Amino acid sequence: MAHSTPYTIAFAAGVSIVCGVLVAGSAVALKPRQEENKMLDQRKQVLSVAGLLNQGEALAPAEINSRFDQSIIPIVIDLKSGALAPDIAAATFDMQRAMKDPATSESAPANDAKVFRLPKHALVYKVVEAGETKGLILPIQGYGLWSVLYGFLAVGADGNTIQGITFYQHGETPGLGGEVDNPKWKSLWPGRRAYNNAWKPAIRVIKGQAGAPDADPHSIDGLSGATITSNGVTALVQFWLGDMGYGPFLGAVREGRAI
Ligand SMILES: Cc1cc2nc3c(=O)[nH]c(=O)nc-3n(C[C@H](O)[C@H](O)[C@H](O)COP(=O)(O)O)c2cc1C
Repeated sequence: MAHSTPYTIAFAAGVSIVCGVLVAGSAVALKPRQEENKMLDQRKQVLSVAGLLNQGEALAPAEINSRFDQSIIPIVIDLKSGALAPDIAAATFDMQRAMKDPATSESAPANDAKVFRLPKHALVYKVVEAGETKGLILPIQGYGLWSVLYGFLAVGADGNTIQGITFYQHGETPGLGGEVDNPKWKSLWPGRRAYNNAWKPAIRVIKGQAGAPDADPHSIDGLSGATITSNGVTALVQFWLGDMGYGPFLGAVREGRAI
């Protein structure tokens, strides 16, 4: 059956409008669930770098939330002074959004981690056991070879001993820079020291193999065939441990002023 041209155009336009409304409707309807899943994933990452979630352990959303609420306290800090910012609600503070918004961030001085903007405030997490702070989870990010790597660094309550590292988002090559996700490589971090004796960030990913944590506290094995990603990890970890990142906060922690 042949249709006239106006009929065909009107039919195609009608189908496009109906499909457009359906797609837009589902995007709006699914938004709260996407936000919830994003939050659950962040909580899982925080639990995992805190050593409170084992590799491969599958938890239902309610279990993730209860384990998180039992041991983790999110806190907002003033990045420059390192002081707590109790007036900002940690439960709803979005550090990524704060970092992009000109009203809540400023451009960063040139740095090797290629962090272009710095938020005035940061969201960090206290790991608490029987009322005592056992560690601090710090959001980190910076450039590798192909992409920005986003992750968390866990540091002890001494503000120096590394407890773990994890990257939850990046676009590095699987098998090369993507080995930042390898549990064996991540297991090389705990027990090493973030700072040297002068309290300058000293932990770095070297080319080749590092010694044991006691003998070689500031080195991590390089990722083979991925020196550029390895250097990116050094740059980003040192950036966030430094004066522009959590340096003032961790200094305050060491002096017993912040937590
Ligand atoms: C397809 C392709 C993907 C690569 N992906 C990465 C990567 O994710 N991270 C990285 O550091 N190097 C990657 N490289 C290698 C770099 O170009 C560079 O050779 C390497 O970082 C040098 O590391 P090496 O000195 O340990 O060999 C890739 C190379 C190719 C051809």
